[in-house]
This record gives sequence, C-alpha cells and structure tokens, in this order.
Amino acid sequence: MKKYQLILIISGLLISVGNIQAQDNDSFSAYRQKLMKSNANHMAMIGDVLKNNLPFKNQITSHAKIVEMNSLMTEDAFAKKITSGRTDTKPQTWDDWAAFVAAAKKTADAAKALAETAESGTGNVMGNVKAIGQACGSCHRQFRKPKGQRFAR
Ligand code: HEC
Repeated sequence: MKKYQLILIISGLLISVGNIQAQDNDSFSAYRQKLMKSNANHMAMIGDVLKNNLPFKNQITSHAKIVEMNSLMTEDAFAKKITSGRTDTKPQTWDDWAAFVAAAKKTADAAKALAETAESGTGNVMGNVKAIGQACGSCHRQFRKPKGQRFAR
C-alpha cells in the first residue's frame, strides 16, 4: 500500500469518527429536549384543566406523575457532558453536577406532592403547581443558557 493511500484511509476514518461523535452528541441533546418538552406539555395540560375548568381534574394526578417520572429520568439523560452543538445546557453544569441532580430531585418531589394532593382531593393544588414551576425555573436559571445565548433552531 502506498503511503498516500494509507494517509487517505486514516484521514477518512478520523473524519467519519468525528461525524459519528458529533451526531451522537446532538442525538443526546435532542433526547434531553424532548424530555423537557414533555415536562412543559404536561405542565401546560395541568394549566389548561385548572384555568379552563376542563372536566379532567382526575387526570391531574397522571400528569403530575409523568412530570415526576421525567424528573427521575433527568439525571441519566443529562449525565453525558456535552458542551457544544445543538444544546442549551450551560457548559459548567457538569462542574456543579450534585446541584443539578438535587434540582431534578426537587422537581420530582414537588410533582409527587401534586400527584398526592390531586389524588386525595384535599390540599392546595395551585400551591403544588406553583412549587413545580419554581423548581423548573430554579434549575433553568442555574443550568440552562439564557435566551440570547441559545442555539439557533
Ligand atoms: C435539573 C434541571 C432541570 C429541571 C428540574 C428542569 N429543566 Fe427544563 N431544561 C434544563 C436544561 C439544562 C435545558 C436545556 C437542554 C438543552 O438544550 O441541552 C432545559 C430545557 C427546557 C426546555 C426547552 C426544550 C427545547 O426544546 O429546547 C423546556 C420547554 C423545559 N426545559 C421545560 C421544563 C419544565 C416545564 C420543567 C419542570 C417541570 C423543567 N424544564 C425542569 C434543565 C432542567
């Protein structure tokens, strides 16, 4: 094999490995964003039921449980360090990983509390919904890039 052929093969391999790597990271990011969109959808559905008095009050428990499950999946979903590409996660997230995990746990606990309140029919449903919203917002302030710095959709 001539030297230049070997160089071509090796550089071809390096390029394709680089592409796989880039694709890989973006598919992780896309998965994370879908998990988050699911949170937003279920919170919005809870809002619809409460604001518009839809006859689905008994489903608030299920929506809350989904947000709890999503929040329990958040640690695994974000564990891989990705600091470039189609992501809005702040690069310093992995330097402060324990706080990220705690924020996910706090959201799961708040969602669990809503599921219990809604199921029992006693307690402060609105207060529980607000607590979830605050838990989402507090993680975002710390770990999600602010508006002007997000990647172009
Ligand atoms: C533990 C931290 C954490 C919690 C808790 C959290 N988020 Fe997020 N969220 C993030 C991060 C980080 C991103 C940026 C993801 C990325 O693009 O890499 C994000 C992105 C989003 C997005 C944008 C998704 C997209 O398509 O780009 C939405 C919507 C969202 N979150 C909603 C919520 C809602 C609603 C809750 C609460 C029920 C919540 N999040 C709880 C960290 C969190």
